[in-house]
Amino acid sequence: MSDDSVLIRNNATGQEVEYPLLKGTLGNHTVDISSLNKDLGFFTYDSGFVSTASCKSAITYIDGDNGILLYRGIPIDQLAEHSSFLEVAYLLMNGELPKEQQLHSFTSEITHHAMLHESLRSFFDGFHYDAHPMAMMVGVVGSLSAFYHSELNMNDPEHRRISAMRLLAKMPTIAAACYRHSVGWPFLYPRVDLEYCENFMNMMFSLPSQKFIDLAHYIDPVAVKALNLLLILHADHEQNASTSTVRLASSTGANPYACIAAGIAALWGPAHGGANEAVLSMLAEIGTADRIPEYIAKARDPNDPFRLMGFGHRVYKNFDPRATIIRKTCYDVLEKLSNDDPLFELALALEEYALQDEYFIEKKLYPNVDFYSGIIYKALNIPVDMFTVMFAIARTAGWVSHWLEMMAEPTHRIGRPRQLYVGPEQRDYVPIDRR
Ligand code: ACO
Repeated sequence: MSDDSVLIRNNATGQEVEYPLLKGTLGNHTVDISSLNKDLGFFTYDSGFVSTASCKSAITYIDGDNGILLYRGIPIDQLAEHSSFLEVAYLLMNGELPKEQQLHSFTSEITHHAMLHESLRSFFDGFHYDAHPMAMMVGVVGSLSAFYHSELNMNDPEHRRISAMRLLAKMPTIAAACYRHSVGWPFLYPRVDLEYCENFMNMMFSLPSQKFIDLAHYIDPVAVKALNLLLILHADHEQNASTSTVRLASSTGANPYACIAAGIAALWGPAHGGANEAVLSMLAEIGTADRIPEYIAKARDPNDPFRLMGFGHRVYKNFDPRATIIRKTCYDVLEKLSNDDPLFELALALEEYALQDEYFIEKKLYPNVDFYSGIIYKALNIPVDMFTVMFAIARTAGWVSHWLEMMAEPTHRIGRPRQLYVGPEQRDYVPIDRR
């Protein structure tokens, strides 16, 4: 037996089959068991995909034990320090950092695709004023497919590229429109003279009755830098729940707008992107540092469903490198925007307490990216129910990159998991008067 294979034996029949070990550039080797059912008549059971690689990908690498995150091989801390969100989006989508001219063309194309079709504006009117912005975003992004059906030939690389660019470009415009609908402000058009994050801040907060220049606070360079950083940190995270949802939906050949809408829906849950909103609600509920032990006890109690939001991660069993970067940025942003937020002090105290607690140490539960991201968003005046929408803007870069990668593979197959059936055996239909 070769050392780059794994032997699987059926103890009932004694039959043995050797399966190849696939080796990636970095990370765990992966047993290719795709013929297991044909060979031995077994499925594998891995609820939650804890040990299952669903695809090959060259985009993002995570080493959860050592707290490493690489986009196309480049460490996240280097990108956080030197890059901008659009440069990172280019890197994720195209595999290499852009040259100056490439970045210029990419930025210009994104800027020019930022407008929404006028008819889309009326979609927002169908939502009640207090609709959750994520509910609006799922609906509006899905409906984009109705506007671009002449460029939805998924076998055409140019159609795929333009769809990805449109999604990335329009996301901030849709996000800002969701917010403005909820507060009853008129929608604002994107501007070609503003950078991606500045444009978003302007579309969020500018009022027609004031000149943009009067709103300097909202495009404070510190705020724009912090927003760029948050978008970079959230841009991709390999096969997380929402990206896997995008891939699964795309595997059917569905159009990219519908697939990204599916990703947005998956992101919304509090175990995933909804955690940043849940962290702030939790901190507000805890209120003061003296109540921390009470909440830690709740998190430890197996009979209490409460979990410490912003703690724990499927892959990181060490510090989430993104949380380390964000924690530092919290100090800078809060200091520079002179916004002394007691919730930040409370978050620091909670983090310190949890990191010394036996339960959290034993289960390797560390703060994740969302433990601190909400505090920065709050300092930037982004309302709490927009936090997951902000995450969606960033993750669109990752979603479209995975979609492009998958659609370019000539052999991609429909994603169709099997199951361990535990329902009743075959039985007869009973007429209603005899049940
Ligand atoms: N608070 C208390 N206990 C926790 C927490 C937490 N935040 N997270 C995990 N645990 C415990 C679980 O109860 C479980 O205990 P057990 O072994 O006694 O059953 C153990 O740690 C392992 O947890 P799992 O849920 O099996 O781990 P999984 O990898 O499935 O879940 C998840 C990861 C969903 C992130 C989880 O840690 C969690 O719910 N955290 C809070 C929500 C959150 O912050 N989500 C954001 C994730 S990052 C992102 O999506 C951007």
